[in-house]
Amino acid sequence: MQDALETGTQAVDRALGDYDYAPTTEEVGRVIAVGEGIAWAEGLGAVGSGELVKLAGRVSALVMDILPDKVGLALLDDATGLSAGDEAVRTERVLDVPVGAGLVGRVVDPLGRPLDGGGPVDAPARWPVERDAPPIMHRAPVERPVETGITVIDALIPVGRGQRELILGDRQTGKTDVALTTILNQQGKDCLCVYCAVGQRSSSVASAVETLRQNGALEYTMVVVAEGGDQPGMIYAAPFAATSMAEYLMHEGRDVLVVYDDLTRHAVAYRQLSLLLRRPPGREAFPGDIFYLHSRLLERATHLRDEHGGGSLTALPVIETEAQNLSAYIPTNLISITDGQIYVNPDLFRKGQLPAVDVGKSVSRVGGRAQHPGYRKVAGDLRLSYSQFQELEAFARFGTRLDESTRKTLEHGRRVREAFKQRRYERLSAPEQVSLLFAVTSGFLDTIPVENLPDVRKRLTQTLEPREDLMEQLTQAGPDDGVWEELQGEMERFFAAEGGDDNP
Ligand SMILES: Nc1ncnc2c1ncn2[C@@H]1O[C@H](COP(=O)(O)OP(=O)(O)O)[C@@H](O)[C@H]1O
Ligand SMILES: [Mg+2]
Repeated sequence: MQDALETGTQAVDRALGDYDYAPTTEEVGRVIAVGEGIAWAEGLGAVGSGELVKLAGRVSALVMDILPDKVGLALLDDATGLSAGDEAVRTERVLDVPVGAGLVGRVVDPLGRPLDGGGPVDAPARWPVERDAPPIMHRAPVERPVETGITVIDALIPVGRGQRELILGDRQTGKTDVALTTILNQQGKDCLCVYCAVGQRSSSVASAVETLRQNGALEYTMVVVAEGGDQPGMIYAAPFAATSMAEYLMHEGRDVLVVYDDLTRHAVAYRQLSLLLRRPPGREAFPGDIFYLHSRLLERATHLRDEHGGGSLTALPVIETEAQNLSAYIPTNLISITDGQIYVNPDLFRKGQLPAVDVGKSVSRVGGRAQHPGYRKVAGDLRLSYSQFQELEAFARFGTRLDESTRKTLEHGRRVREAFKQRRYERLSAPEQVSLLFAVTSGFLDTIPVENLPDVRKRLTQTLEPREDLMEQLTQAGPDDGVWEELQGEMERFFAAEGGDDNP
């Protein structure tokens, strides 16, 4: 009898299996008002800032403000039909996203939900979108380059892995192009990429994704999208979600590059939320903590010490200026947060100087240390001489009669400028850039008519391409290396032959 009773209990235990019968409590409150992109709720007890709340069982919302009698929420889903009186339930979870290598090649929203029609995202973990930046003691100096494939940037405004470099300029000046070219150039460079599209039109996002796909870049890139038509809460969360996804890979020892395109729209979405939540507006009606918002985001970009895996997170935030005003509120904030900026100038764009990078107004405060040594030989004083040329050219436009040496400086500068031109999405490898700059700075191009330069450039690249041994050494060569003499010899032969063609 005793035996039978015991087996009965066991049978019940078995039937219950691993049913979790721990008591649970839910804090349930009420929506008291719904606005454009936001809602107010009450009765949520000990709800925390940044916590996710479910409204009416279907709309996710993020706790932004906690007041004595109510909480302000940013809506994350379509809220049609949501109204006062609906149920608001705490989730006791902060906003988090799936992370892991399974996201590579995927297009997801800021909550990690697929937008590419593919299956669910395969992710080993979920990470909160807001995380503390790595402590200073875990950080190493920037020491390896991010090669953008754009000569004027790699030579004069070099970016290092773990750096934060701002890309700014007016609309339609090629900012997105610079960012996408950089991603395309990471093919085979052991650097994963995240393209975070913030508040753009769907057609722009679609064309960026298509560019990545066509060029095979989706094999190492993930795309995080919050479109302009999405809830401002989603736009607000997007760069933070993208950063957590990148950070996870950085902590696995990978190098990751994140493009935030663009943070102007992010700031605008945050301003919209803040105004709707009745936070006091400050300069340009932005809330007082907008600087803190962007600094805590970009502070998470770094290069970790080897003891911490040696990974890195490089941040390329994009900012749109209005009428070339670099001293507006958001541009000045971002300029001071980042380690340098690439300024694309609409005047250069109009003149067809593409990519329209304005060397005089661009700077990289840490990337020089990470630049390949070969650049020092060919680009060492290029920056200064190029700026001098630009001033001189502006001056010479007044029709002043020019002496011989000024004329030479101008002719030389025009060839440097021509050498910096690149077609859309065209990438040059580091040896190609170094050999081209060598040809310019050594004066080989000075006698060649400017309009012939593109063709000469192409033939030069073709001639040097088979010299793999030489090309391989170029980027690593010190200033007195024998390889420069060898290159000089190659160039002399090439240009002697060119001269022969042009003047038979
Ligand atoms: N290097 C380039 N060569 C030719 N056209 C370019 C180049 N860079 C940009 N463009 C053109 O400029 C336009 C605007 O570029 P985009 O990157 O979208 O600007 P932004 O992001 O600054 O608004 C693009 O449609 C593209 O055709
Ligand atoms: Mg753009």
